[in-house]
Amino acid sequence: MYRSIIKSLTVSPAMVSSVASVFKSALLSRPDSCGLKLLDSCFSYPTGQENGEVLALDFGGTNLRIILVRLNGNRTYDLLKEQIINLNENRSGINLTAASSSGEQLFDYIAYEIGEFAGGNMDYLLGHCFSFPFRQLSPKSAILLEWTKEIRTRMVVDREINNMLTVALQKRGLDRIKPTAIVNDAVATLLAAAYRSQSADLGSICGTGHNTSFFDKSGHLINIESGNFFNNVLPVNQYDVLLDDNSTNSLHQRFEKMVSGAYLGELFRLIILDMVRCGHIFAESVDVVDSLSNRNALDSKNISVLLQKGDFIIRTRSHTINAREKIMLKNLAIAMVVRAARLIAATYAGIIDYIDPNQLGNHIIAIDGSLYEQMPYFAQTINDTLHEAFGHKRGIFEIQFEKDTSGVGAAIAAIMAKENLHRNYPPHFR
Ligand code: GLC
Repeated sequence: MYRSIIKSLTVSPAMVSSVASVFKSALLSRPDSCGLKLLDSCFSYPTGQENGEVLALDFGGTNLRIILVRLNGNRTYDLLKEQIINLNENRSGINLTAASSSGEQLFDYIAYEIGEFAGGNMDYLLGHCFSFPFRQLSPKSAILLEWTKEIRTRMVVDREINNMLTVALQKRGLDRIKPTAIVNDAVATLLAAAYRSQSADLGSICGTGHNTSFFDKSGHLINIESGNFFNNVLPVNQYDVLLDDNSTNSLHQRFEKMVSGAYLGELFRLIILDMVRCGHIFAESVDVVDSLSNRNALDSKNISVLLQKGDFIIRTRSHTINAREKIMLKNLAIAMVVRAARLIAATYAGIIDYIDPNQLGNHIIAIDGSLYEQMPYFAQTINDTLHEAFGHKRGIFEIQFEKDTSGVGAAIAAIMAKENLHRNYPPHFR
């Protein structure tokens, strides 16, 4: 059983190239047949000269980040102040990401925190990094298509997000704080990277969620929503199917459920539970089964601790985890992490092949996210898999780690939108 699970998690070089080529074909035609949304962000390359002190809101899940950033206009910036707020446990006492809360409650609370952070009704532009799929109507307005990453707040889907935020700010007398841009985090990461260097052309998030953006041939910055990618070419196993069936958004975000931090712990739990029940590990200990029976009992942090320190969070009274079991657990965790990284790298290879079929350029892939930063084996495997995919064409890609730059990207977007520079293509695109 153990061997067959490891085998089902293995992504061969042939599979990498099939995933890359299916992904490329989906970008070329019928993206919707593979779940790709290709949402035009309304933004193009920043000039690098954007400057000013700007507020940014980074809303990507249960944690909300507010920052004040100074863009220096010379491709550099300084982070002046930041605050992180948990939307589940906060001063309002309400879990704002649950279905019991409404969008109005959510944005009223966000407006309150922005007011506290800004020190009252001060003149600020605000860039909003909103890390969900939305249809962009203009640089500053967008309609939420659906929640992902298990957020359930009511009466936000199909609404105009920055309008809800603006109304909430006005209700609090904060009308001098002006949301002028809304961008997805994959888009914001790429804007921040392109602000520093114009050869950045892919932006990706490998954290709680997963998504990638890129500059297309005409210089438009496109949000792929690659977390929703799905095709028969993906090595889906029985645990992926079970995880999806039990999730709050079954049949959506299937790729994200195989590769991102929000789901790796759950996948690990389903695999271990099955192995315990079949008597392959932990001598069928009832207390292990009990402690693993709840959905999301394990998270990706547990996996990184296991891989870094060899510690496994499940303690059993009836059975001491032996050396053989520790090795099995570790190998399963590695197989899951390596699968995730290889599949993601395959999509990057597909995108690069799409934007540069003759493979002439040097493409910077800007990546942000906790998995990329902290999960053992993850970053290295992405890099190795891309080398494997491009073989001799080694100079074709370069990976750049972007730590927490989505807020900065949103701030850059706020200035670009205000100065009407969001469609200001560099000379080679005109
Ligand atoms: C989810 C969202 C996507 C976001 C990603 C990373 O996949 O749908 O918009 O970019 O998470 O946060």
